[in-house]
Amino acid sequence: MIELNDLCIEYSAILRDALIKIDANAQGLLFVIKDESLVGVVTDGDIRRSILAGKTIEDSIDTIYNRKFKVLRHNASIEEIQNSLSNKIKIIPLINECGNVVDYASLSRLHRIPVLEPLLGGNELEYVTDCIKSNWISSQGKYVRQFELEVERYTGSKYALAVSNGTVAIHLALVSLGIGPGDEVIVPDVTFGATLNAVVLAGAKPVIIDVDKDTWNMSVDLLKESITSKTKAIMPVHIYGVPCNMPAIMKIANENSLYVIEDCAEALGSAINDKHVGTFGDVGTFSFFGNKVITCGEGGAVIFKDEEAFNRAKILRDHGMTPGKRYWHDVVGYNYRLTNLQAAIGCAQFEQLDDFRLKRKQIFEWYKKYLLSSSYFKTQVMKEGDESSYWLFTVTLNENSLIARDELIDRLTKVGIETRPIFFPMSIMPPFSDYDKHLVGISGHISNQGISFPTSVYLTEDDIIRISSNVLDTIEKHIYCKGIVNRG
Ligand SMILES: Cc1ncc(COP(=O)(O)O)c(C=O)c1O
Repeated sequence: MIELNDLCIEYSAILRDALIKIDANAQGLLFVIKDESLVGVVTDGDIRRSILAGKTIEDSIDTIYNRKFKVLRHNASIEEIQNSLSNKIKIIPLINECGNVVDYASLSRLHRIPVLEPLLGGNELEYVTDCIKSNWISSQGKYVRQFELEVERYTGSKYALAVSNGTVAIHLALVSLGIGPGDEVIVPDVTFGATLNAVVLAGAKPVIIDVDKDTWNMSVDLLKESITSKTKAIMPVHIYGVPCNMPAIMKIANENSLYVIEDCAEALGSAINDKHVGTFGDVGTFSFFGNKVITCGEGGAVIFKDEEAFNRAKILRDHGMTPGKRYWHDVVGYNYRLTNLQAAIGCAQFEQLDDFRLKRKQIFEWYKKYLLSSSYFKTQVMKEGDESSYWLFTVTLNENSLIARDELIDRLTKVGIETRPIFFPMSIMPPFSDYDKHLVGISGHISNQGISFPTSVYLTEDDIIRISSNVLDTIEKHIYCKGIVNRG
């Protein structure tokens, strides 16, 4: 949040100080103060025009600031504020009876855009109410099986299990395939930590490999080089929903008799030539966390190629209890079950998935039109025949943007636009840094430069225009200010 002080400047200050302050507050303007009272505003445009007209950055702002400007009383109503703010007037000083600035109103204060939020506008409430009214709130009840059938139908798999979240889905996949101590599992450097946590918790050793510069997914060349006599499985992660090169990965896996577990946490709806991801390998895992393609609140699913592995996983999910013999354990298991309440939300979300998917694709198209028309970004590349889940619109910043990624995130936060950085490379973090790695410098670059923009399904074209113009504005003002300040 911007402090009032970051928006105020003394009338006697020089243009350089004003530019630096405008650059830092990312609002494009300052309130000008004389004898503690508000006397005007000065914008970055005013400064730019005055320099073009012959002023130097050592001149005082006193000679250029606007004496006519929009101002409201500090007790103005929300309606009055809403009616006064527009795309032209994005920020308004609020003054007290003495003319002192005591606060400000801005578009970003009125309307924050989060990076990803679920939309629960279907039958979620009705189905959850049904669970409560019928008393089926734990992991038994009709919605759990219905949810599994939806996962099977949507992904085209024969054997789906609902579980508590996407992390235990991966863990369950590993243990039901018998992967554990002494085994190596090859994982990509760019992923969420849960992928590696699950491998370590299963007792196996992650071997971390770099990613492809275009798809940001596991590098197939490095995969070949990383296989040892201890390698038991490959774990491709379809990052941000862009499919990994599954035909090439499956060929390598088959030649080396390795299991393949696909982490599809972000990739519900991703496919290669109409075959859903997660169905190429032995097992596919999904997440239904609140920010995913669809959600159960918390939730996960595992899909299996092989019925026997599926049956083992079912027992392990349910404390290791033997089916048909109550409270008898043949193996040590887990409680990884999904509740009927969560599954009820998931079932209602599945009903909306086709619409969500179309909307997400549309959001990506709008970003292409309004943001990618500039030269500041690079996106993930998809091959012919690939389909993405369009989970989260993510780009890397090109060098010509001149702005550090974290600085762009901070500035956008100040104007009410939430973004997020790409994950840190797994290989640099304390729990994973000692594992074997095969890196060529790609993951570090993607991680440093990567930024995700709001992609919630309820966003409108106007929202994407507002986000894109703020992003481009922020970058262009930064380039301009850097040029002026460096020139002195
Ligand atoms: C790539 C990846 N794997 C695994 C997970 C873990 O899923 P969950 O949060 O449902 O445990 C996530 C997301 O959270 C993810 O993005």
